[in-house]
Amino acid sequence: MLAHTPPMGWNSWNTFGENISEELIKETADDWIELGLLDAGYQYLVIDDCWAEKTRDKDGLLVPDHSKFPNGMKAVSDYVHSKGLKFGMYSCVGTMTCAGYPGSFEHEFVDAETFASWGVDYLKYDYCYKPHHIPGHILYKRMGMALKNCQKDILFSACNWGADDVYAWIRSTGAHMYRSTGDIEDKWESIRDIALSQMDKDCYNASHCYNDMDMLVVGMYGKGNVGRGGCNDEEYRTHFSLWCMMNSPLMIGCDIRKMGQETLNILTNKELIALNQDPEGRQAYLIDRGNAAYNNVKVLVKPISDGSFGIGFFNMGDTDGRGSLQFWDIGLPSLTGYGFKMRDLWEHENIGVYKENYTCNLKPHHCKVFRAELVKN
Ligand code: GAL
Repeated sequence: MLAHTPPMGWNSWNTFGENISEELIKETADDWIELGLLDAGYQYLVIDDCWAEKTRDKDGLLVPDHSKFPNGMKAVSDYVHSKGLKFGMYSCVGTMTCAGYPGSFEHEFVDAETFASWGVDYLKYDYCYKPHHIPGHILYKRMGMALKNCQKDILFSACNWGADDVYAWIRSTGAHMYRSTGDIEDKWESIRDIALSQMDKDCYNASHCYNDMDMLVVGMYGKGNVGRGGCNDEEYRTHFSLWCMMNSPLMIGCDIRKMGQETLNILTNKELIALNQDPEGRQAYLIDRGNAAYNNVKVLVKPISDGSFGIGFFNMGDTDGRGSLQFWDIGLPSLTGYGFKMRDLWEHENIGVYKENYTCNLKPHHCKVFRAELVKN
């Protein structure tokens, strides 16, 4: 069975767009291992759109671009596997992919076989050029069925941007994760808007089928395909914390070959990743304070399988803010004799035991994330 926890990996799109090649993939895989990203949990190396020739061969099969991948995809896949990583690729429900390469419409079963023969472990499946006469859920069911029956375990990563009420039907297609928003851009406003749009969707996110809030932009600093001005490290920390708390898959989007130390520190924060990878797979829920003074600071609470909680305070606004959590609001009445032992997951330190509530001040776009363990006073 696949996707016991939110998938973790890297995808070529955010930085490289159509500028992909066998060489890039090999160099990425090499540095991935050297940097310890596999040890941190990142496993799936995924080639996004623009990998194919513009036409199928005479037998109707997809053909890798000869100049980008001169040795074919099996060679790339073998190299990726030789590093202990898993290999992912991309196709689309429609007649063409979003960038105009052949889509899998009416070729679902043969394409699944092709991917399996190349050793593909993960398929991202997009929504462009969708035929109007067939509902989206049928198109995802087709590929879901084809993948489940191609004699190879292939993780199915749906990507229909939250369209057509995807929340209602995506689990029925066999998808292991599903994109719930439009494309992320490397700027604070994009991170903020995506996160805010999914805070009421915690009931649609669970083990084996996760709400994918799109690939990470941590460490892009405005460079590459979706670079739009970039963010600072504090904003990247908030971005990563939100994705961890909200149980999104964690797909790195920056250039791994050029990753600096601070980016690596963010992406390999083990205590944050542990929240994301908790086996119960619960997305954090939003505490609605209904109080304008606190509105910019979102308080998220993620129930963890061992009885503790991930608690995050996120200043989504552009002015200083104050975050506050009354423990009553997460189910702890005042007179129980219990409190929460709080551990700051960015400072990596225990800050003490709190009873009844916790309050903090936050600069714009900053966050604090804690692991809170129930203790008897
Ligand atoms: C978009 C998708 C992006 C990327 C792109 C490729 O539809 O949301 O993540 O895959 O297509 O053309």
